Amino acid sequence: MKGDNLNIPRHVAVIMDGNGRWAKKRFMPRTFGHNAGMNTMIAMARTAKKMGVEYLTVYALSTENLSRPQEGLEGLYNLFRKYFTKNVKDLYAEGAAVKVIGDIAALPADVQELIKDGVKNSPADACFFVILALNYGARAEITRAVNMAISRGEPLSEGDVGDLLYTSGIPDPDFIIRTGGEYRLSNFLLWQAAYSELYFTDVLFPDFNEREFKKAIENYSKRNRRFGKI
Ligand code: IPE
Ligand code: IPE
Ligand code: MG
Repeated sequence: MKGDNLNIPRHVAVIMDGNGRWAKKRFMPRTFGHNAGMNTMIAMARTAKKMGVEYLTVYALSTENLSRPQEGLEGLYNLFRKYFTKNVKDLYAEGAAVKVIGDIAALPADVQELIKDGVKNSPADACFFVILALNYGARAEITRAVNMAISRGEPLSEGDVGDLLYTSGIPDPDFIIRTGGEYRLSNFLLWQAAYSELYFTDVLFPDFNEREFKKAIENYSKRNRRFGKI
């Protein structure tokens, strides 16, 4: 697949939206959609790695999502529990590491511990990174950086600001995909997306299979990124 002569983005970030609607269409509870979405996410990580992507960031929980009804949040926490006990092991075995961006302190204590272990136990020599955005909000991330900068008390360069973000050390996303038919960023990677290519699809995330992912990468591959130059 790597040899398809495509220009592969080094870092792909995905706003995995449309899971609740996918379930609703099937007369099922929203949690059913989130479960299906997690399976799609796991498959997508395999496809991304196989195609030569190095970083895959997935928006799994926004700061705003935290004000959703508790029942739905519990369903998501159970998915995180499952991911960080079982699924991460498969990732490690495939030479991949997991990273997390966001303020996990607001999550249940046991989930926080599982996340920390999941990050800590990742292989040191990984060539592929799955970055989970959990209780992530770009405005909270930037505000946090501003506060750290104030306490430092010195003028900062753009690079210094980048180093104060959760994504420090991670290259900016080349390509941001949003599934689920909405045309917005919903507080995702606002600083890092300055020159990202954007792709919006009506496909609901659980249906965003290997074929759809490949279609998106093919679309990216045809783009001309000028970065303000001519
Ligand atoms: C996005 O799916 C994933 C999370 C917010 C956890 P939604 O839950 O927003 O699904 P829709 O957009 O309501 O269909
Ligand atoms: C964005 O989806 C957040 C995640 C995919 C985790 P939302 O469903 O929360 O976004 P809005 O509310 O439609 O903007
Ligand atoms: Mg949504």
